[in-house]
Amino acid sequence: MPELQHVPGTFDVLPPASERWEVLLSTFARVAASAGYGLLITPTFEELSVFQRVGESTDVVRKEMYDFVDKGDRHLALRPEVTASAVRAFVQHHPTLPWKVWYAASNFRYEKPQAGRYREFHQVGIEAFGSPDPDLDVEVVALGWEYYAALGLRRVELLVNSLGDGTCRPGYRALLLEFLQARRDQLCPEHQARLEVNPLRVLDCKKPGCRAATADAPRQIDHLCEPCTAHLARVRAGLDALDVPYRIDTGLVRGLDYYTRTTFEYAGLALDGAQNALGGGGRYDGLVAEMGGPDTPGIGFALGLERILLAIDAEDLDTGQTAPPLDAFVVDFAGGETARDLTAELRAAGLRADRAFDGRSPKSQFKSADRSGAALALVVGPDEVAAGTVAVKDLRGGAPQVTVPRADVVEEVRRRVRG
Ligand code: HAM
Repeated sequence: MPELQHVPGTFDVLPPASERWEVLLSTFARVAASAGYGLLITPTFEELSVFQRVGESTDVVRKEMYDFVDKGDRHLALRPEVTASAVRAFVQHHPTLPWKVWYAASNFRYEKPQAGRYREFHQVGIEAFGSPDPDLDVEVVALGWEYYAALGLRRVELLVNSLGDGTCRPGYRALLLEFLQARRDQLCPEHQARLEVNPLRVLDCKKPGCRAATADAPRQIDHLCEPCTAHLARVRAGLDALDVPYRIDTGLVRGLDYYTRTTFEYAGLALDGAQNALGGGGRYDGLVAEMGGPDTPGIGFALGLERILLAIDAEDLDTGQTAPPLDAFVVDFAGGETARDLTAELRAAGLRADRAFDGRSPKSQFKSADRSGAALALVVGPDEVAAGTVAVKDLRGGAPQVTVPRADVVEEVRRRVRG
């Protein structure tokens, strides 16, 4: 039988490589909690219709959804992103406002796998419901920025745009459509065919023809209504006040349809252009109502962990903290009862302890103890059992081996490793 493997576009993360993931997750939990966001967990799959609201004209919905019919004849899909699920949960549970949540979740998109682009990928993110205040946009955008800084990333560029709202977007859309219709034959075949469905999507197309056709296209930012103009000005003033550097990118439309007003992306400047979006987000003031809830504004972002790890490597950073090493490894060649009981006692006392199994030889157990990185080996042979003692051997420094009464060994370990 051929060896089983993970499917294309997915991957395994084994220890110790997974220690970096622990750092990414714990740092994000800390940054989010520092601003009053609580952890949200939603199901990995939902009714397909939940995700269709992300945008019928987007690649995510049209081409990349992992949807299936379950044994109960429900049409479901693995989540391609978390925002739609967060909105569904908000509508279902009506929490009090403002509702500020963070998440860490894997998402599924049937994309062409390549470096930084997977079919199952992982995001951390936040969503904040209930306030149209542009200062909330500033809080959200700045938290993402702070997270990258906390990880030590330096080569990150923040791109900001406004997509307008229900008042000014339709007029702009019509203007853009007219402009692009006059240049239809320059557009790539896909956008020629779909121009009328969503002309804004052309601004996001990387094909040379579309790029050339949109070079002088009208820009939403020049056609904002007065409230959207004021909103953007306040966001910009807030980012300036918090010393968060950014660049206005009038071509930033994002790949999902629910956005209004502020949209933003964090670009990894150390990464290859095609996959350099480290994360992105924006306002979605109409989405809650569209999904059947009360008219409630929302804003959030999601940051791709695989991309962040690529950027960490490209910037040659050390993520610092690794899993704390073991305090003690119990080497027991007198039947195993002491190893069984002592590791439990050590762990109950808040110490990190491990042991070998299967009654292996002392030599083999010492090898495991060395490999484990433990500070101390606690050695128990027939002599120690008879004497009611444990030998404590320093595996790192040169402290001489001592023998302590069995009853005192947990205290001895604590004194030696915690000082
Ligand atoms: P998104 O731009 O689709 O936005 O994804 C956010 C980030 O997830 C991207 O910038 C990228 O780092 C990462 N990402 C996306 N697709 C892949 C993939 N196939 N492989 C690896 N990484 C990927 C959203 O998902 C929105 N829900 C963000 C949001 C939250 N907007 C408002 N609230």
